[in-house]
Amino acid sequence: MGRCAQRDGVACSHRRSDDLQLRRCRVDEQLSQLAHEAPIAVFLEECCCVEASHTQIMTDTALADLASRMATARRVTAMTGAGVSAASGVPTFRGADGLWRRYRPEDLATPVAFAHDPSLVWEWYAWRREQVAACRPNAAHNVLARWSQHDGFRLITQNVDDLHGRAGTRGLVRLHGSIWELKCFKPCANGERPWRDERVPLPEQPPLCPHCGGLARPAVVWFGESLDSAVVDRAFEATTCDVFLTIGTSAVVYPAAGFVDEARAKGAFTVEINTETTPASSCVDLSLIGPAEEILPSIEQLLAESK
Ligand code: OAD
Repeated sequence: MGRCAQRDGVACSHRRSDDLQLRRCRVDEQLSQLAHEAPIAVFLEECCCVEASHTQIMTDTALADLASRMATARRVTAMTGAGVSAASGVPTFRGADGLWRRYRPEDLATPVAFAHDPSLVWEWYAWRREQVAACRPNAAHNVLARWSQHDGFRLITQNVDDLHGRAGTRGLVRLHGSIWELKCFKPCANGERPWRDERVPLPEQPPLCPHCGGLARPAVVWFGESLDSAVVDRAFEATTCDVFLTIGTSAVVYPAAGFVDEARAKGAFTVEINTETTPASSCVDLSLIGPAEEILPSIEQLLAESK
């Protein structure tokens, strides 16, 4: 069933009733029924094919349902992508203004590109470090950081900007590394382990490995490289949970893109939060269409009210 068809189906069945409570009840029933059968798409902004008031009811009910699931869940896992940092001013990779629209990953984010032209690659990373240094965590990072203070909550991120860390997130699983860490390109025996360097601008470019004097590189995962297996294991383990939220990711880069399916296969209630639909939207139990920096604070508020 298409997303609009689902929304229209639910909308039509409630337009006949004037009683708000009854309508809420019926939407609830439909939501819980649909949760077992097909994904639900809830648009947070007025959409041409759904009345605004109805959208509000859908939104309220879906968020309340999610909040009550989270309140009783023993384990909640969230996985984030570039969209969670968009409101902070960090560009995403895909989409109209995405970095990969303007730059070719094969020129800037592969070991071959680095070996061919380390200065060019470092120029790009130095520019991104400068951009991110000027950004601050937004409401989405802050909510996730507060949730991370609770046992049973785990956060996996594909982001290399470290804004989750700066928001105070505990136990973060960073799948793709950090642009604030460097490692030896060769690598030499001592330079394999990343070291932190938050200087902007870097005093030497390209920077050198302090151990062997060879070239240092950003400690991020480039295309064609394997992820750290211990990190993947931690992320995989976190897919065993009661609620799994995939937030602000285009869900096209693996293995991260596969974690939501893994969580669902293990019995988790799966939720996507994104400003648009992605390949994951049709597989999750609930798809919330809207900005993470607005939806996450709404969920947090409902959780607080339910106490
Ligand atoms: P993308 O740029 O591919 O996707 C960003 C997603 O965020 C899109 O689906 C947007 O619709 C969504 N989005 C934008 N603003 C949002 C907001 N305010 N709230 C919620 N969603 C929003 O970024 P990733 O999925 O993170 O890999 O990309 C995955 C990987 O591809 C990255 O980690 C990077 C890149 O190449 C490496 O660096 C290895």
